[in-house]
Amino acid sequence: MSLSVVILAAGQGSRMQSALPKVLHPIGGKPILYRILSTISQLNPKQIIVVHGNQGETLKNALTDFPAIRWVKQERPLGTGDAALSALSSLEEEEVDNVLILYSDIPLIRMETLSALLKIPKGAVGLITEEVADPTGLGRILRDKEGKILRIVEEKDATDFEKKIKEINTGFFLVPKPYLQKWLKKLTPNNLQQEYYLTDMVAQAHEEQVPITTISPKFTWEILGVNDKIQLANLERIYQQQQALSLMQQGVTLLDPMRLDVRGEVKCGQDVMIDINVVLEGQVTLGSNVKIGPNVYIKNAIIEDNVEILASSIIENAIIGAECNIGPFARIRPETVLAEKVKIGNFVEVKNVRIGKNSKVNHLSYIGDATIGQEVNIGAGTITCNFDGRKKHKTVIEDRVFIGSDTQLIAPVTIGEGVTIGAGTTVTRDVPSYYLLHNRIEQRSVSNWKKLEEEQD
Ligand code: UD1
Ligand code: CA
Repeated sequence: MSLSVVILAAGQGSRMQSALPKVLHPIGGKPILYRILSTISQLNPKQIIVVHGNQGETLKNALTDFPAIRWVKQERPLGTGDAALSALSSLEEEEVDNVLILYSDIPLIRMETLSALLKIPKGAVGLITEEVADPTGLGRILRDKEGKILRIVEEKDATDFEKKIKEINTGFFLVPKPYLQKWLKKLTPNNLQQEYYLTDMVAQAHEEQVPITTISPKFTWEILGVNDKIQLANLERIYQQQQALSLMQQGVTLLDPMRLDVRGEVKCGQDVMIDINVVLEGQVTLGSNVKIGPNVYIKNAIIEDNVEILASSIIENAIIGAECNIGPFARIRPETVLAEKVKIGNFVEVKNVRIGKNSKVNHLSYIGDATIGQEVNIGAGTITCNFDGRKKHKTVIEDRVFIGSDTQLIAPVTIGEGVTIGAGTTVTRDVPSYYLLHNRIEQRSVSNWKKLEEEQD
């Protein structure tokens, strides 16, 4: 059965109290609307139409990952029925059997649930409904004695009796296209909010004796909507619990599944162990036996097998080779590539650096825009002075160099293979291989030195 999808996203989302459109608030690091579009795309619809309001450009710019979207503007927010009506002429461009209409503020719906909706008998109207403990604010499903659906009543228009109904409209409608074309045009704003309600289509279906089939989601959280920051935070937690479950099902050990946040996609090898308060963002690959300590932030990185990342380290856009040891309190900035068995210790910042096998930067250093060979030892407090105020310059440190503590390397500079640099050296020119270099001021000792008398008031 061919399908068009219409996503209604023109509402103002005023309860979010934000300048950002509601559907661009993130869940798991991606906009709500992005989450919905990713799920919808898996259904392979012929067409996806997003109905937007005044913030169309902002939405388009945030969702360039979905170039095939047909964007349609709803001129004024006259209700969900009117929003769907705005999509009608675009719908006419494609020959499809069914139209799936959904709201843009329900981000966690699963593809499996939508697939089940698409499998209802041909020619029927399909709804996803759910019995909830607290239906406040939601449209109620009215059924007759036989259980046949009569209509949907919105909370604001409901009688006290109707308000007691627990079965609610979740906001997913599958409608055979010819009916949709007919029914949308017949909607009227005869209700308390004077809006065109999409939900009134259901009464029309009943009137015309078109069969209405309902399905329910496997999990209630799938149909929870975001209308304010409280619901956003709640759905974020639910989303994160699902990410944690999925990682544990793949064999990852999480010391506390409630204290991991995944804001992207994580691929994991075997026996990965993650301590508490870890945030993984973007595309993160963790090899086998990777251990991540507490309070670690990793964004867009490949961490190879047997790496240990100690507490409070930050890694961004980097490749960490097998058996490296990072942190605690290390900062690995973008474009860093570490070969095997590199050690980056505490309070070390590296940026745009390639470091060869077995090299160590153990304490309190800044290494930026540099290439470092194998088995190099960089002493505490070493700094690559890569910036002259205008341009960044490169430092090259060849294999087996030993750099004493508190050394400044004024780039551009190359330190040849096997060089030893004494502590406290400022390197301004290239050093040939196997040299010893130091430019420390001779130590001067003055005997019997008398301290100056303290001044008396
Ligand atoms: C809607 C349903 C309600 C259902 C609930 C589920 C209607 C009339 N009510 O209520 O039955 O239980 O969702 O969460 O449909 N929108 C537009 N243009 C508009 C108005 C809304 O595009 O003029 C979009 C919004 O961006 C939003 C969606 O439609 O994504 C739903 O609108 P919202 O105002 O949130 O409806 P609810 O009051 O939640
Ligand atoms: Ca809503």
